[in-house]
Amino acid sequence: MVVDPIRNPYAPGAGQRPPELAGRDEQLAAFDVVLERVAKGRPERSLVLTGLRGVGKTVLLNALRGTAVRKGWGTGKLEARPGQGLRRPLSSALHQAVRELGHGDQDSVDHVLGVIKSFAHRDAGAGAKLKDQWSPGIDAPAVRGRADSGDIEIDLVELFTDLGGLAADVGKGIGIFVDEMQDLGPDDVSALCAACHELSQSGLPVIVVGAGLPHLPAVLSASKSHSERLFRYQRIDRLSREAADRALEAPAAEEEAAYDAEALAAMYDATGGYPYFIQAYGKAVWDLAPRSPITAADVAVAAPEADAELAVGFFGSRYERATPGERDYLMAMADVAAAAPADGSDVEESVTSADVAAALGKKPQSLSPARDSLLKKGLVYSGERGRIAFTVPHFGRYLRERG
Ligand SMILES: Nc1ncnc2c1ncn2[C@@H]1O[C@H](COP(=O)(O)OP(=O)(O)O)[C@@H](O)[C@H]1O
Ligand SMILES: [Mg+2]
Repeated sequence: MVVDPIRNPYAPGAGQRPPELAGRDEQLAAFDVVLERVAKGRPERSLVLTGLRGVGKTVLLNALRGTAVRKGWGTGKLEARPGQGLRRPLSSALHQAVRELGHGDQDSVDHVLGVIKSFAHRDAGAGAKLKDQWSPGIDAPAVRGRADSGDIEIDLVELFTDLGGLAADVGKGIGIFVDEMQDLGPDDVSALCAACHELSQSGLPVIVVGAGLPHLPAVLSASKSHSERLFRYQRIDRLSREAADRALEAPAAEEEAAYDAEALAAMYDATGGYPYFIQAYGKAVWDLAPRSPITAADVAVAAPEADAELAVGFFGSRYERATPGERDYLMAMADVAAAAPADGSDVEESVTSADVAAALGKKPQSLSPARDSLLKKGLVYSGERGRIAFTVPHFGRYLRERG
């Protein structure tokens, strides 16, 4: 049985839907319960997915959205960007959600669309000229005096209240999916938390589902509201051996191909169970293996190919965003982590900023600008005060190998 490159099923790439969404049944099942409860007006915490880059947060968020769509919910998604306000992307997402909801009464729909429009118009500031107002492509006239006070918290509550009413009319709900949530501005975060709090108390069927880097819970709890009671955090991590095998084997079986036992062991060894690496290795091995079953020898032949691909597509694109000074800082982090006593697991350790400074022979304060900039660029995160870690798995190894 020949393994045909044209039929290669694997899908490395940010946000690329994997051929098999392995190891996420628990989250999907939990979300089903959340949707049912929210639609019935029961109190329920929203889901927030956290994890390193490449573990599959975006594709899981998309899958959760798919679940909501199949239940007839109105859904919209946005990706937060540093320095960008919430009004525009949220308006577009909500416009989409209202369309998906398919409410039959045009007057009610137009009213809510008009509120979304007035919420969006406020993006340009009070009394802005018409030409400076940004519109989310909504035909309905703006509803003045609703969701346009300029206080984002008040406006979100009014907006969500009207949306929730519309969804409740038809016995459904509204799901707002926010990717890269750690990049929301502080005012937007606290307003969103306050609005979610309000929603949960009024029993309106609107939920915000988020995904972001591991420090997202810290970002949310820094805002004034009680985020720990609003959100249920789900750490999305590397796959178990069993799930990783399934991620590789199920798509292969569709093409009538298979892996032998040593090949699967070698794959897990190389990928550490990280979904992005599984897809990258799967793709390279499939392209180079002469026949099925795929063997450990095939994996060995394909590994340099997979690593080269990752060096460009996964690691390199991030490394390039760092300035020379920041690169020194990253390299020192990698050295300090490598010098720490290995516990044999593949889990990437955080290091202390003090150790990094010592390794560079500098005072910690003098390195704060580099550290802060790396935090802002999302290359590192700080889960605990004084400690710092890569947001990209295996990044330390990559840095040390490139020298
Ligand atoms: N559960 C999974 N099983 C198999 N492959 C997955 C899974 N989740 C994600 N992937 C793959 O991993 C890669 C990264 O996924 P992505 O959602 O972009 O990660 P993140 O948003 O956490 O950075 C993609 O190529 C995707 O196809
Ligand atoms: Mg993502």
